[in-house]
Amino acid sequence: MLVYPLTENAELRALEPWRADEFADYIARDREHLAPWLPWAQALTDVDSTRAWLQRYADSTAQDMGRIYGIWLDGRLVGGTLFRVFDVRASTAEIGVWLSAEAGGRGLITLAARRMIDWVFRERKLHRVEWRCTPTNQRSQAVAKRLGMTLDGVLRGAFPHNGVHHDVQVWSLLASEWQDLEDR
Ligand SMILES: CC(C)(COP(=O)(O)OP(=O)(O)OC[C@H]1O[C@@H](n2cnc3c(N)ncnc32)[C@H](O)[C@@H]1OP(=O)(O)O)[C@@H](O)C(=O)NCCC(=O)NCCS
Repeated sequence: MLVYPLTENAELRALEPWRADEFADYIARDREHLAPWLPWAQALTDVDSTRAWLQRYADSTAQDMGRIYGIWLDGRLVGGTLFRVFDVRASTAEIGVWLSAEAGGRGLITLAARRMIDWVFRERKLHRVEWRCTPTNQRSQAVAKRLGMTLDGVLRGAFPHNGVHHDVQVWSLLASEWQDLEDR
């Protein structure tokens, strides 16, 4: 995938190490908005740490594991998605997402996640896609619901972040359910 159009002015592209400067600028702009939910938004504080993180994803992509993508709106990087987990043997992938507040409310994340789920199920023939978020993250839960996911349950105190052991909701979608949703 070089570029996948989401809308007439928004695109999903692979977020590769050569884009570290652009991604570091994006994180610096959006840090306050992302940091309550995403530990990497606190940890990646300069271009070198950002490039190293993107390189880990590039290496993981080469091994057919995790992957990371960016979302550009009118040519500006405004968010992204990733496969935090992409495990062919376990037939499971986990999607993560983020977006600038000013790019929200247009469905860009839902459209990007749909494209990723479609790829997981139709092209890669995996069985399960997961979505994890804290119970307080209403907007993330809204996306999971919009994607037709089911809440499997809650992992109590499973996410240590900012000195708190947060609960984690696990949402999922199975390949057969995706087919049903697409057929409707
Ligand atoms: C979670 C997050 C990515 C959700 O962003 P979002 O803008 O709500 O999600 P979408 O891009 O899918 O947009 C959905 C909105 O667009 C609207 N929309 C417009 N066109 C749409 C379309 N074609 N398809 C779907 N929704 C559409 C929806 O009705 C919804 O509007 P609402 O917010 O008024 O209910 C964002 O809040 C965020 O980055 N938060 C901080 C980081 C974070 O929490 N990441 C997740 C960690 S688990």
